[in-house]
Amino acid sequence: MIQIPKGCKDMLPADAYLWQAVEDTARETAQLYGFKEIRTPVFEHTELFLRGVGDTTDIVNKEMYTFLDKGGRSITLRPEGTAGVARAFVENGLQGGAMPFKAYYLISAFRYERPQAGRLREFHQFGAELYGAAAPTADAEAILLASRFLRELGLGDVTTLRLNSIGCKSCRARYAEALREHFRPHIGEMCEDCRERFTKNPLRILDCKNEGCKKFTADAPSMLDYLCEDCRAHFETLKQLLTQAGVAYIVDPRIVRGLDYYSRTVFEFTTDLIGAQATVLGGGRYDGLLEQMDAKPTPAVGFAAGIERLLLAMQAVETPLVERLPDVYVAGMDTASRQRALLLAEELRGQGLIVECDLMERSLKAQFKYADKLGVRYVVVIGENELNMGEAEVKHLSTSTAERVKFGEIAQYIKNSRRF
Ligand code: HAM
Repeated sequence: MIQIPKGCKDMLPADAYLWQAVEDTARETAQLYGFKEIRTPVFEHTELFLRGVGDTTDIVNKEMYTFLDKGGRSITLRPEGTAGVARAFVENGLQGGAMPFKAYYLISAFRYERPQAGRLREFHQFGAELYGAAAPTADAEAILLASRFLRELGLGDVTTLRLNSIGCKSCRARYAEALREHFRPHIGEMCEDCRERFTKNPLRILDCKNEGCKKFTADAPSMLDYLCEDCRAHFETLKQLLTQAGVAYIVDPRIVRGLDYYSRTVFEFTTDLIGAQATVLGGGRYDGLLEQMDAKPTPAVGFAAGIERLLLAMQAVETPLVERLPDVYVAGMDTASRQRALLLAEELRGQGLIVECDLMERSLKAQFKYADKLGVRYVVVIGENELNMGEAEVKHLSTSTAERVKFGEIAQYIKNSRRF
C-alpha cells in the first residue's frame, strides 16, 4: 500500500472538532479586530519567495518545494503566507484603498524540513497581516490579536510572549558590523552556513542551531544596544502599550526570526509543553517588504501561528473543548420501519438536531450498542406497531426511561427534555 509522504499528517474525523475549534476561534478573534479573510494560491512564482522571504534564509536556501511546470515556469509551493498576501495586496490595487488594510488567512504551507514532533513538511497556519500603519499601536494591535487568540484556545497561561526589536535598515547595518567584529576571530571554527551568513547576513548566525556555533553567540552584542532613536522610541511605546493592555512579555534580544523581511518589532509566543519546536506563533513588523518587491513602500506588521503546534499544546493542557455529539439515533426493526427511520431522521435534522439512523441493517440490540458508542442521548425506535400508530418510542439512554411520542412531535419533545 502506498504511504503518506514523509512529514505530512492525515487529519482524521475523530479529531476534527479540535481542528475546527482552532479555525473557528481564529476567524472569530480576527473578526473582533476587523480583519477579513484573504485566500491566495497554494503556489506562486518562485521569484516571489526569493524576494519576499529573502535569499539568506534557510526557508529559501534549503526548504522550498520548487518545480518547473509544464510551461517551464519556476513554481514554488508557499512556505508561508506573508509574501502571497503582499503580492495580492499590490496586484489587486488594494494599496490605493482605505488604510489600514487588515487580512487574515488559514492556509497550508510547505517546507522541506527534517520532520519531528511539531515540525512537518506540510503544516497549517493562521496568520494575520496589517498594512499601512507605521505607529507602534499597529504592532500592539497585532500582538493583542495573537494574544487573545491564544487565550481563547486556553493557552494564555502556558505561552510566553518574547519580544525584540531588530531595528531599521540603518541601525541594523551598524549592528551587523558589530556582530562581524564579534564573530570574526571565531568564524573559522563555525559551521559552513554561518560562514556564509557572516558575509550575507550575520544576524542569522544568532539563529544557528549548531552547538559549535551557539557557544560563540552566547556573548554576542545585543541589537537593543544599537537601536537608533526612532527605533528605540517605537519599541518603548510598544512595550508600554502592552503593559497597559495587561499583556505580559519578556524582552528576548536573541529573537531574530527565520525570515529576512522584518524590521523593528519581532515577537514569538513559545511554550514548554511541546518539546523542541516550542514556538507556536511568530511575527513582527516588515516595513521594507513591499519596496523589496518593487512596489510602493508601505509599513506592515503581522504574525502566523502553527496550527499543529497549537493542537499539541491544547492536548497537553487537556483542553476543555468537547465534540458536539449526535442528539438522536433513529432505530428501525424491519425494512419498512428502517426506511421510515431514514425519513424521520431527515425531518428531525430539518429541525436542527444531529441525527443518525441505521444504514447497516443491524439488529435492534446492535443498534442500541452503536447508538451508545456514538454518545447519543435519545434513541427513537420504530417498528411495525409504531408505523401503524404514527408514533415512536423515545428512549432516554441516561435515565433508561421511555415515552411514546407522535412522529410530528419528536423534535419538540427532544428539544424540551434536553433542557433538563
Ligand atoms: P514562521 O516563524 O516561519 O513565520 O512560522 C510561523 C509559525 O508557523 C511558527 O511559529 C510555527 O508555529 C509554524 N511553523 C513553521 N514551520 C513549521 C513546520 N515546518 N511545521 C509545523 N509548524 C511550522 C512565518 O511564517 C511568517 N510568515 C509570520 C508572519 C506573518 N510574519 C509577519 N506576518
